Amino acid sequence: MFVLNNVAKYYRDGDSKHWVLHNFTHDFTKHQYICVAGPSGSGKSTLLNLLCGLISADEGSIQFRRGEEVIQLGTATPTVLREFRRHRIGFIYQFFNLIPTLTALENVLLPLELTRQRHLDTIARERLHQLGLGARINAFPEELSGGEQQRLAVARAFAHNPDVILADEPTGNLDRDTASEVIELLWRETARTEATLIVASHDERVSARCEDVLSLAS
Ligand SMILES: Nc1ncnc2c1ncn2[C@@H]1O[C@H](COP(=O)(O)OP(=O)(O)OP(=O)(O)O)[C@@H](O)[C@H]1O
Ligand SMILES: [Mg+2]
Repeated sequence: MFVLNNVAKYYRDGDSKHWVLHNFTHDFTKHQYICVAGPSGSGKSTLLNLLCGLISADEGSIQFRRGEEVIQLGTATPTVLREFRRHRIGFIYQFFNLIPTLTALENVLLPLELTRQRHLDTIARERLHQLGLGARINAFPEELSGGEQQRLAVARAFAHNPDVILADEPTGNLDRDTASEVIELLWRETARTEATLIVASHDERVSARCEDVLSLAS
């Protein structure tokens, strides 16, 4: 899906530049399950934000490929990037990032509404049932356990059938058993939708199951 060539990214630190990624080259098109590992501060979240075009690289190129479709993230217009994110990408975060004022059903409806699909309500309900949240459709996030919240986040990320799931430490805030459950779901949903999963994680159970493990150095 992604081909990165000599990518570099820095953040400004007063007058100096703090380089996070340097000469980073990688072909993400060869595998379906990819883990981004590395110590805290090595740039895992930065890399995921670059892949979805939320931030731009300071050097090098990031290309998104899907069949004939090619998007150069560095030169794409804001409209192209927005559509790319809406249709192609699903996100999962460590702290779930659910919208607290929306119910479970409404949280899953949100990405569907952005892609202007039909029969949204039926799709959203079906997804929630598939992820074991059928009985909690009208619950608000704060009424759900951590594991349920992350399952809801998984349902939301996959709702619009994205080509790529970017997951940033999806098990980082869960106990061991709940983390295992979420890992199973992530793998199951990725296989079902034939998406590519790019997951930043310290969890050995995640990296052990990935076909490609990228280690970023601090
Ligand atoms: N918006 C920002 N402005 C300035 N510096 C930033 C910004 N975002 C990240 N950094 C710095 O860039 C480096 C890489 O951060 P990043 O969040 O990508 O690391 P990470 O590998 O995801 O770490 P963790 O495992 O703790 O989540 C860190 O030193 C961080 O302080
Ligand atoms: Mg991070």
